[in-house]
Amino acid sequence: MSEPQVRGGRPVSAAPLVVDRLIDDRRTRIIVCCGSGGVGKTTIAAAIGLRAAERGRHVVVLTVDPARRLAQSMGLTSLDNTPRPVNGIRAGGAGSMHAMMLDMKRTFDEIVESHADPDRAAQILANPFYQSLSSSFAGTQEYMAMEKLGQLRRADEWDLIVVDTPPSRSALDFLDAPQRLGRFLDGRLLRLLVAPARLGGRTGLRMLNAGFSLVTGAITKIIGSQLLRDVQTFVSAMDTMFGGFRERAEYTYRLLRAPGTAFLVIAAPEHDALREASYFVERLEQEDMPLAGLILNRVHRSPAARLSAARSLAAAEALQDADNGESTSLGITALRLHAERMHQAESERRLARRFTAAHPLVPMAQVPAQPDDVHDLIGLRVIGASFAGN
Ligand SMILES: Nc1ncnc2c1ncn2[C@@H]1O[C@H](COP(=O)(O)OP(=O)(O)O)[C@@H](O)[C@H]1O
Ligand SMILES: [Mg+2]
Repeated sequence: MSEPQVRGGRPVSAAPLVVDRLIDDRRTRIIVCCGSGGVGKTTIAAAIGLRAAERGRHVVVLTVDPARRLAQSMGLTSLDNTPRPVNGIRAGGAGSMHAMMLDMKRTFDEIVESHADPDRAAQILANPFYQSLSSSFAGTQEYMAMEKLGQLRRADEWDLIVVDTPPSRSALDFLDAPQRLGRFLDGRLLRLLVAPARLGGRTGLRMLNAGFSLVTGAITKIIGSQLLRDVQTFVSAMDTMFGGFRERAEYTYRLLRAPGTAFLVIAAPEHDALREASYFVERLEQEDMPLAGLILNRVHRSPAARLSAARSLAAAEALQDADNGESTSLGITALRLHAERMHQAESERRLARRFTAAHPLVPMAQVPAQPDDVHDLIGLRVIGASFAGN
């Protein structure tokens, strides 16, 4: 990759990120698209998947929350947690594309089923505490996305896995999820709750047991005895699986740091999104995660960039002065609109420069804003065309 241009010791533009180079490199096995909500993670992940498939790779895209029409266009009509072939790929038989929507609860259930014998699995799945944990525990969605990634990688049916990430409120959730779930499952509180059930009756431990009962007694008052029993049965049943969960979380964490993985941070050219992107970039660096670059999505460019905002506005005013009639009002509107576009493009460029000044070594790609939402393969192809670099 080329070095960023440097003038007087300060970088003025980022090294270009050529996404095509990343997807054409057979050593790239996993691409993770992350960023704050609404910036286009799902769209970019799908566009990368399609582009890579049409350039000859065997791709699976793991989406988390695709907009309905986009999901339909990829043949995803139900949340069944299984990769489905995407029809309409123009790969001449060389590449292929599968896509799936992550069903968080189903993924959790599958882990339980694969780690416990059928009776015990049924007992866990029916447990109300498990049911609420598997569908609402903060970070579960992030954890399950990573879990699914591990499964897809182990299946080894695809040579490229593109991962969309959940719309986390903060970047931290995503990277912390495996450890957080691990911590939660081995957590002190849970150990304490399960202890009386294990120790119950043993005379030598009566004192200790009394202490535990006091604690659990207090907790029972707060959370209710039924729930406490649920938790205790759940944790007893899960006990045998603790090792399994931790192992899997560690496997996925290693996978994320492996040389075949590339993280792409997606951002909109807006102040808040870029601030989050900065934070994400720093976090990935701290964790030694392989960051490939930043994709600035929904960038506005003007088709008539040589006409400056100032001249455009001046022309609009001149027209207005000359004639208030309807014959020119359309022209005036167009000129004002053009001026607005130019201002917006300038402000986006300024924000991008500011990001690069703070992170001079992070390569950047830009994806133009489309006039409409992206909801079919044609739209994804248009987005993909900007991955060639320019
Ligand atoms: N380059 C683009 N031009 C126009 N619309 C876009 C572009 N990228 C994404 N969108 C639209 O923005 C919305 C949010 O995109 P999405 O990919 O769902 O974001 P995220 O997954 O980050 O929440 C969708 O309606 C999508 O069609
Ligand atoms: Mg999304």
